[in-house]
Amino acid sequence: MSLVKIPKKSVEYFKKHQDEIFESGNLAEGPWNKKLSEKILEFSGSKKAVPVNSNGSGLVAILLIFKTYFNRKDIMIQSNTMYGVKTIVGTAGFNLVNYIDCQIDTLMPNFENVKNAIENYKGNKKQLVVMLSDIGGIINPDIEKISKFLKSNDILLLEDAAHSFGSTLNGKFAGTFGDAGVYSYYSTKAIFAGEGGVAVTNNEEIGNLLQDFIAYDRFKQKMPIGCNIRLSEIQALMIYSVVDNYKEIISNKTEIAGNFMDVCKKNEINFISQNENENIGNYYKFTIISPEDEVVKKYPKIKTTTSKVYDYALGNNKDIPSKHLCLPIWYGLDRSIINNVLKELER
Ligand SMILES: Cc1ncc(COP(=O)(O)O)c(C=O)c1O
Repeated sequence: MSLVKIPKKSVEYFKKHQDEIFESGNLAEGPWNKKLSEKILEFSGSKKAVPVNSNGSGLVAILLIFKTYFNRKDIMIQSNTMYGVKTIVGTAGFNLVNYIDCQIDTLMPNFENVKNAIENYKGNKKQLVVMLSDIGGIINPDIEKISKFLKSNDILLLEDAAHSFGSTLNGKFAGTFGDAGVYSYYSTKAIFAGEGGVAVTNNEEIGNLLQDFIAYDRFKQKMPIGCNIRLSEIQALMIYSVVDNYKEIISNKTEIAGNFMDVCKKNEINFISQNENENIGNYYKFTIISPEDEVVKKYPKIKTTTSKVYDYALGNNKDIPSKHLCLPIWYGLDRSIINNVLKELER
């Protein structure tokens, strides 16, 4: 049995098609990048999808486009996100002007948190970007309201959808709520393929600039920025093989989560729901929260856990790390581990 658990159909599809790449001689910039882009357009309903070699490189490229073509220089990110999101904005040469506070019940900022941060901003809103990360598998529940508010203030919204590929809110696909969004298929993610990402946007100008950016704009030779952040054809095929079966991965994880939820509800254990108010998540994480107390004090019997979403906070919200824990949840999780977790939850 293999250690990396992805659907058998994905592995078979990859094996079936890998020789085509060697036989064609197209190791880069070939048909699998195109096929992957078309597949993501089909799933996301967005106008443009550009495969990139990581979520981070895609975010840096979009920020550089925002800076060069949309006159942006300041940015806010949320307090509870990966440290790398901070280095991403620094790499793109942005001024990080504030961290937006987050709520323990979602691990993300709500509308009021974003509104307060914007009201305290002293600069020119036409030079501002807000980058929000979907955390743990669900889309920020307030993102539609936030997106409208930011738009009415001429602020650009970049959705870091590293965690949320395949999740929907009111039937709308993750990554499509702002001016652009980027998925990650890095090894630890809910829908993973080792490395890589795809950037999506409904803004043709941003999409076209990004398409040229990833090839140093070497064909048109108009842009002052650009870098090779492309996916190899082998990696594009790998991601294609996995995303083609993303619904199977999510449905398997939803079933496992269903087991956990039943016991949590029975025992009044607080968890972050990924199936509420039209917000359907991919169960990247199954997160138990304890808003009042430290989670280890409240639930000392829960020992079978995986790493926390983050064990640090970038801004305020220093208590979020101690107020949540994550249960093991991945595609094809062994029944013995599930049973162990259930027993501990019962205690
Ligand atoms: C919230 C968040 N944003 C961005 C990234 C970066 O993704 P990648 O490793 O594909 O660059 C990660 C995780 O690794 C993440 O957790």
